[in-house]
Amino acid sequence: MAKKKNALVIGIANKSSISAAIAKELYNNGFNIIATYLNEKALPYVKEVTDNLGVEKLFPYQVGNKDQLNDIIKYLNDKDIRLDTFVHGIAFASEIKKPLYEVSWESFKETTLISAFSMVDIARNLIKNDVFNPDSSILTISYRGSQVAVEGYNMMGPVKNILESLVRGLASELGEKGIRVNAVSPGPVWTRAASGISGFDKLIEAVKKTSPIGRTATLEDIGAIAYEMITNSSINGAVYLVDCGEGVVFTAK
Ligand SMILES: NC(=O)c1ccc[n+]([C@@H]2O[C@H](COP(=O)([O-])OP(=O)(O)OC[C@H]3O[C@@H](n4cnc5c(N)ncnc54)[C@H](O)[C@@H]3O)[C@@H](O)[C@H]2O)c1
Repeated sequence: MAKKKNALVIGIANKSSISAAIAKELYNNGFNIIATYLNEKALPYVKEVTDNLGVEKLFPYQVGNKDQLNDIIKYLNDKDIRLDTFVHGIAFASEIKKPLYEVSWESFKETTLISAFSMVDIARNLIKNDVFNPDSSILTISYRGSQVAVEGYNMMGPVKNILESLVRGLASELGEKGIRVNAVSPGPVWTRAASGISGFDKLIEAVKKTSPIGRTATLEDIGAIAYEMITNSSINGAVYLVDCGEGVVFTAK
């Protein structure tokens, strides 16, 4: 029997998380899921997802906590588990409700660390400890607010732009190690993180109207595309829109 492929998924908060949809798609396609939770408060909601995905052990992980990351790596090494993918679904911005020009450097720095650079930091530690299989991949989650100034997205737009640039840089560097790096870029979906964005309900409605097919992408749509990006060995350095075509349309007010 072929050995199961392994995915480390960081970013599941609850059933609505985009990372939960990606983990589900990976699990349905035979992947073994290794997952994390942010803190004890989040644990029951994460378990609601992972209990259905055969996850035997959940790891606490907060960006920057080296001991927690080392515990994950030790588990992988002890169990002789090598990763076929690392899914990075982390984002947080303490001053997301402020207009961009009022954001403090401290908050911008923290947001960049948590929402973008953490992908590099985690990847470096995984690579150093040799836990990736040959022909593996890293997938992060971006948003078109990286390219255009979306009302209410404020500081997260520039940080997603950094994230996408990191995808290209890492893809060019890590190919020789057999690791591809990509970002899936979905249109708006209701999640815990999305509920922190001012006017998100209006954004979803506006996007539905702009979308040539009159709808936004579902979690299932995003999971399916993410799976393709993770497993198709020709996709590398890509930022792929899963937005039902909304991004190619301009509507005058
Ligand atoms: N919801 C959308 O409309 C949408 C659209 C495009 C892109 N995205 C992106 O998708 C990704 C996942 O977000 P989501 O919408 O599924 O929301 P979510 O709230 O379900 O997921 C965000 C995750 O980030 C984790 N996180 C936050 N701070 C952390 C920290 N310090 N350390 C470790 N983990 C931390 C949370 O625990 C949570 O699991 C994010 O990068 C988000 O920007 C979301």
